[in-house]
Amino acid sequence: MGRGGKVIAMDTSTVRNTFLEFFRERGHTIVPASSLIPDDPTLLFTNSGMVQFKPYFEGVKVPPYARAASVQKIMRAGGKHNDLEEVGKTSRHFTFFEMLGNFSFGDYFKQDACLWAWELLTQGFGFDPSRFWATIYIDDDEVASVWEHEVGLSVSRIIRLTRDEGNFWDMGVAGPCGYNSELLYDRGPGFGPKYSGSGEPPGERYIEVWNLVFMQFLQNDACEVIGDLPAKNVDTGMGFERLVMLLQDVPTIFDIDTMVRLIGVASEIIGGRYGQNDKHDVSLRVMAEHSRAISFLIADGVLPSNEGRGYVLRRLVRRAARFARKAGFDKPFLTTLTEVVVDTFGEAYPELVRNAGLIDKVVRREEVQFDTTLRQGLVMLESEIQAVKDKGDRQLSGETIFKLHDTYGFPLEIATEIAGEEGLSVDSAQFESHMKVQRERARAARKTGPGGSRSMGADEVLSQFSKTEFVGYEKQTVESQVAALLNGTQDVSTLTEGSEGVVVLDTTAFYPEGGGQIGDIGEISTAAGRFEVTDTRWGIPGVIVHKGRVTAGEINISDVASASVSAEHRQGVHQSHTATHIIHWALRDVLGEHARQQGSLVEPGRLRFDFS
Ligand code: SER
Repeated sequence: MGRGGKVIAMDTSTVRNTFLEFFRERGHTIVPASSLIPDDPTLLFTNSGMVQFKPYFEGVKVPPYARAASVQKIMRAGGKHNDLEEVGKTSRHFTFFEMLGNFSFGDYFKQDACLWAWELLTQGFGFDPSRFWATIYIDDDEVASVWEHEVGLSVSRIIRLTRDEGNFWDMGVAGPCGYNSELLYDRGPGFGPKYSGSGEPPGERYIEVWNLVFMQFLQNDACEVIGDLPAKNVDTGMGFERLVMLLQDVPTIFDIDTMVRLIGVASEIIGGRYGQNDKHDVSLRVMAEHSRAISFLIADGVLPSNEGRGYVLRRLVRRAARFARKAGFDKPFLTTLTEVVVDTFGEAYPELVRNAGLIDKVVRREEVQFDTTLRQGLVMLESEIQAVKDKGDRQLSGETIFKLHDTYGFPLEIATEIAGEEGLSVDSAQFESHMKVQRERARAARKTGPGGSRSMGADEVLSQFSKTEFVGYEKQTVESQVAALLNGTQDVSTLTEGSEGVVVLDTTAFYPEGGGQIGDIGEISTAAGRFEVTDTRWGIPGVIVHKGRVTAGEINISDVASASVSAEHRQGVHQSHTATHIIHWALRDVLGEHARQQGSLVEPGRLRFDFS
């Protein structure tokens, strides 16, 4: 233990251990970090230490311990906490970082949380007590009293702030929340002006070290408090890299030992030393930070894709690659950095070592793919930028960016960033409307329609109808009316016995083929006849068509009809559907989190499951 006033320089693993040991001695169970992919559909990534404990705070599950402590992997990119575009440009932002936290589930509350935080900082880590300030929620007299009377902080060092100013913590979604109190460390006049006494203290100088959240309320999606949690809890979070920055007495989080190593390798790759030129430094920081986030994401099972988590990963790879190219380096390099990430962090996070081969393969492929896109697209983009500038305009048309995207797969956000660097904006609304038209065209082309035989004639017929109302989740039989009949591609007013064709109803319980699931079969009957449905599909977007044959009498337009799905068929589909979930689960269990479903075919008695 150090004495207050003498900071103890520690390497990163000693810092983690000191933290965990301190709380172990105070009755906390040490809980391993959970995956960056949370078991929580409301979140894109694990965005704080409390995510894995959320059900305990909400009272949905009984915690197996009343006190816990962890070092948690965090990703803040996408969603409420989105720092992606900031990274590299500031000295304070990461997408991926580690967070130290201690938690109480209806056990201790404000007093112990504050006293222990103070003890660990000033004695365990040896920080000078006279450097600290505390912010508190504006009306939280209880915590003010602990800081003032039990810790001995002078009243002038206790800053009362509102929810908007940041002293109320929530997850940005419905869930637990509460007042918080932050401990700030004053780095002195070398880091900016003195606190003026109103609003938030300037962040470069007054570094937020530890956030103590008194998790006591429940909020809805609109972030309005709707009641109390079953118990009063504590959730604390201390940004690991910031703490290490102060302990190692370096100016930014990019100067701590682990990041210095990564930045060193990045500058060996692209040349030029760190700290000589601002623009070059941005590139080095982006390369170092993103390669770390990329490695951790892949190790937790994220693969590049065009949506959700996979898209964040893709953006990180692209952004890192692009900033290297901005610095004049245009060969693939990322795997050199991700190897160093595995080596640097592998001891604390063995999943990196276990997945080293996968990280290498995924990053290599993604980077090479993007390299081709970038090379081809840049030539076109640069000449467009020049043309716009020559004309004295300040905006690139959405059509130009769409062409780039359509021809080379060049991403909008990269085009926007490059244009921004040249002082130009991009008409993204126009880009979106071109994308929409293209998506609709592609969708129409993909649909083969009833039995694959639909021509443009049938499209025209179908486009006269409003959307089919689908009630198949609630019902298997529905009373409806015949809205259209098609005989091949022609619209007809009657389908006679024995003829094949298509029936369109205004309401149906028949599930159309989609997402790998086969369409429903069954029967449509009217007063005049019966129609056996052998397949159900989308005719055009919004309009469901039933394909089959008239088995008795005739079916007439405008007839009242009763449409019944075959229960046996449905049941078979459900069973196969359940089976795909079981297979997915088993594959993830055996192969790891990266075994992701890519597609499937679900039929009664038969299924196919594609995975990566
Ligand atoms: N949940 C809070 C935070 O993320 C404290 O851990 O800051």
